[in-house]
Amino acid sequence: MYTCRIAIPHCLGLSFFLFSMAVIAQPAIEDTAQSEVTFAEHIAPILYDNCVRCHRPGGVAPMALISYEQVRPWAPMIKYKTQLRDRMGAMPPYYLERDIGIQHVKDDERLSEEQIRLIASWADNSAPMGQLENMPPLPHFNESGDWRLGEPDLVVKLGDVTVNRGDSDSWISDNLVPVGLAEDRYVSAVEMREVNNADSKATAGTVVGGLYIFHHMSWVTALPAEADEQDGEELSWPVHELGRNPDLFDPKAGRLLQAGSSIIPTTYHLHSNGQDTTGHMEIGFYFHPEGYEPEQKRGRMSLGDGLNISIQANMKDQELHTYTVLKEHTKISSFEPHLHAPGARMCLEAIWGNQIETLACSGYDHNWVKQYTFEDDYAPLLPKGTIVHMIGYMDNVATNTNVVDSRNWSGSGNASVSNMFLHLGQSVGLTDQQFVQEMAGRRERLGLGKNDHLVGCPLCMADIPLLEPMDEEAGEP
Ligand code: HEC
Repeated sequence: MYTCRIAIPHCLGLSFFLFSMAVIAQPAIEDTAQSEVTFAEHIAPILYDNCVRCHRPGGVAPMALISYEQVRPWAPMIKYKTQLRDRMGAMPPYYLERDIGIQHVKDDERLSEEQIRLIASWADNSAPMGQLENMPPLPHFNESGDWRLGEPDLVVKLGDVTVNRGDSDSWISDNLVPVGLAEDRYVSAVEMREVNNADSKATAGTVVGGLYIFHHMSWVTALPAEADEQDGEELSWPVHELGRNPDLFDPKAGRLLQAGSSIIPTTYHLHSNGQDTTGHMEIGFYFHPEGYEPEQKRGRMSLGDGLNISIQANMKDQELHTYTVLKEHTKISSFEPHLHAPGARMCLEAIWGNQIETLACSGYDHNWVKQYTFEDDYAPLLPKGTIVHMIGYMDNVATNTNVVDSRNWSGSGNASVSNMFLHLGQSVGLTDQQFVQEMAGRRERLGLGKNDHLVGCPLCMADIPLLEPMDEEAGEP
């Protein structure tokens, strides 16, 4: 996972250091002797904080993990799934790698190493219950149903679609739906969900995709008069995909939702979930307060190669590479790998002068399309001219259960059995002035000095004087 690309002696030194840390850390774990790890005291709190939002009656997961009786039979499987950490199949489904790249993310769902060890030692010791009086209070479930961010300020319900058992995949567009806003509002976050009449009991035991008919939805907003001619670019929004987490836009670059505008679902990719199902998409908008004005604008970084993919049969670790040169100073606010079935991992790196730095790496599981939103002061802040390099790792092997038949070669294409290699994360474009200000702000807020280094910010420690404020008339500097 961690590749030593510097000098070998350094690498050996580092591994030895990590190894000795592990040895030294051992007594601390022994403190909670295996026999003392109990469901009531240690495991239930971990599950209530990290799992039961999905693993509860009526949740998306196939089984509830609330009572001891429910959890006990799953103990070995829970150990296995949590130990996968950031690899395909891991639970919770969130794959950002810990030992490389930026670690400060807003929606961090990873278990700590200590929690993973507690689960393992509990499972290895016959998963004892412990004392009932040590049980944590039963978890509270989000009253708003399954809106992850709580009740949205505005929910737009799109039209119903039916997909019958055995129907083949289809790609359709749908009629526009007015948003119903009387005044412009800026959006801080957006969350999308599918609501359908599928019988979840009939799909029990399948992966998350078995519950839904919308594989993905692309959509734009436009004023109705412009609907025919709008180019989609300016007004496009993040794509909905199966198992995807909500989009949190950079707080300084809220997205405009115009008064009187409509949502145009440009593509629904529909697939059968094995039973006759009618469902629709709902888009939940979370607004900035009235009067909010964005200081910064949406970026234009686009990265991916949808044409030249060639995935060999029965081969692991096949690498894909693509590059882009940034045409403006760019803050990458979220990392969102997009691959298809053979996809196993993706990394982003920045090349600035002779400095090459990994920004983030994550595992990938095509059942769960995840994005990783960086904390505001840690989002990569890259000068114009930086080369952003994206690396995809593909496992076209029988052990990858997302692949239908690993004996097949596969190329580029829209279907899940073909491949994509895209970065779908969000970025913000900065003027010279904003770029310098962002860096100065970070130095101050994070207390960074000359000898510090902030991953993904090659110029953060350079002493660049603040620029004179721009003349309004002069446009971009
Ligand atoms: C975002 C929702 C979600 C969260 C959070 C989540 N799970 Fe899951 N889990 C699922 C779904 C859905 C499945 C079915 C397999 C799939 O779709 O990947 C699953 C499958 C599993 C399985 C395998 C079941 C089988 O049939 O083999 C285990 C074990 C498991 N989860 C444990 C956990 C634990 C432990 C946690 C917390 C540490 C957790 N999950 C967090 C949704 C979730």
